[in-house]
Amino acid sequence: MSDTPRLTRRPEWTALEDHRARWHGRLRELFAADPGRAERYVVRVGDLRIDYSKHLITDETLALLQELATATGVFGLRDAMFRGERINVTERRAVLHTALRAPADAVVEVDGENVVPRVHAVLDQMSDFAERVRSGEWTGHTGRRIRNVVNIGIGGSDLGPAMAYEALRAYTARDLTFRFVSNVDGADLHEAVRDLDPAETLFIVASKTFTTIETITNATSARSWLLQGLGGEEKAVARHFVTLSTNAEKVSDFGIDTINMFEFWDWVGGRYSYDSAIGLSLMIAIGPDRFREMLDGFALVDEHFRSAPAEANAPLLLALLGIWYGNFFDAQSHAVLPYSHYLSKFTAYLQQLDMESNGKSVDRAGRPVQWQTGPVVWGTPGTNGQHAYYQLIHQGTKLIPADLIGFARPVAGLSEALEAQHDLLMANLFAQGQALAFGKTADEVRAEGVPEEQVTHRTFRGDHPTTTILATALTPSVLGQLIALYEHKVFAQGAIWDIDSFDQWGVELGKVLAKRLEPALTEGAHVPGLDPSTTALVATYRELKEV
Ligand code: F6P
Repeated sequence: MSDTPRLTRRPEWTALEDHRARWHGRLRELFAADPGRAERYVVRVGDLRIDYSKHLITDETLALLQELATATGVFGLRDAMFRGERINVTERRAVLHTALRAPADAVVEVDGENVVPRVHAVLDQMSDFAERVRSGEWTGHTGRRIRNVVNIGIGGSDLGPAMAYEALRAYTARDLTFRFVSNVDGADLHEAVRDLDPAETLFIVASKTFTTIETITNATSARSWLLQGLGGEEKAVARHFVTLSTNAEKVSDFGIDTINMFEFWDWVGGRYSYDSAIGLSLMIAIGPDRFREMLDGFALVDEHFRSAPAEANAPLLLALLGIWYGNFFDAQSHAVLPYSHYLSKFTAYLQQLDMESNGKSVDRAGRPVQWQTGPVVWGTPGTNGQHAYYQLIHQGTKLIPADLIGFARPVAGLSEALEAQHDLLMANLFAQGQALAFGKTADEVRAEGVPEEQVTHRTFRGDHPTTTILATALTPSVLGQLIALYEHKVFAQGAIWDIDSFDQWGVELGKVLAKRLEPALTEGAHVPGLDPSTTALVATYRELKEV
């Protein structure tokens, strides 16, 4: 057993508990006493300006949180990650998504081998293929050019490319159609291909392990659809299927020539993989140059995380703020609210990044944790959320810290009239931050002549903390910067909580049980040891499907 004190017994932790117990700060008062916090509590990284002034913090809070970070060795673990050490302890793997965006002359070693040349060789292979598809040089089996690209994958092999495709839609080749199929519900593939011509369709089967049942099932069905549409000639598959995987053997077993495989490596976690070969669909959409701009955006924040001092380190600051609320204010969730239509899948992507990484209840040594770990991450783009669930954030009983993300300029290509709507969109973002922080007092409500019986209903307590992340525009580089910011935030929180942020054993049990149950649903097979509730549900299901 190690001698290191467990997290909640550290003096830095108990100092934060004392600070919390003494906490009575209200944001109105904090700003009145110290208007300078509006400028002081801003950190800049790359093109991102991150304002954290509307948080329930003072200089003392920040100092105490930073002491906790130092005591728990966040920066030591960070350096070990960048060095390629096997910090994913339960899978005994290095964690090197940062190598995916390292410049060509960088050296990052895994087991004594510099992996950067391999990363760039795959990037070149992807660029070549993407250009051939985009130019029409890569044709389908019948000689027609590819017009549709369908990515089949799930989790990290879907959410990243699907999110980034939406985010960067304004930069995409509009003469190509992109679809993303993930759900094993046959309706997903059906809807994705029903209006497509197989002769013009390229399937990208994305799976790190190439064993994921949803992806293999959908890829098998897609192959049947293709062969049916093209007269059953097996050799058509080679022109219409490419794979993205770490597992060449399984790709061959599936019947796809590995010549059409784009490789990545076991030191890239699924949820950290869309800047690897998993991003091929995105690269076809936006082109290799834009893809590389995005990688440069990631790399810029990697370098910031690696070298900025604690008090100006953006991912660390965001991590510490999350810990302040999650561990000392009992906040259970964290809302991410982008004020951009193009970021419609951003929060769904972050859900996997954050919740699959930090949804853990044992520490790195396998002992139960006695502290809260990762929050429930949720949210959708503003302003839609304002007319749905913001009521609860403003006046409900829960404390929900939120990130508000916005851009000074709309993306290029909107009409003048639509561009003019951007100010209204951003006015909503700023208004929400303002209302959440400062609320509206009962006296202010009364002063408006509101009848006394309605005063409490119309009062806003305020003191709901938000971070405002602003950038000039949503470019490929800015997207990379934003994703790297959250990746390293999640890393820093996991390091402080002393959990392995890079495994995901919690998804295994359901997978195994589903496989065992399937014959009971299809053939009524007996499943030994099945609990009475599930037995009854399966029986009812079988009855209903016969009706
Ligand atoms: O849900 C578990 C998981 O392993 C994720 O971590 C991963 O992103 C997803 O499944 C897909 O895995 P693969 O890319 O191996 O098909």
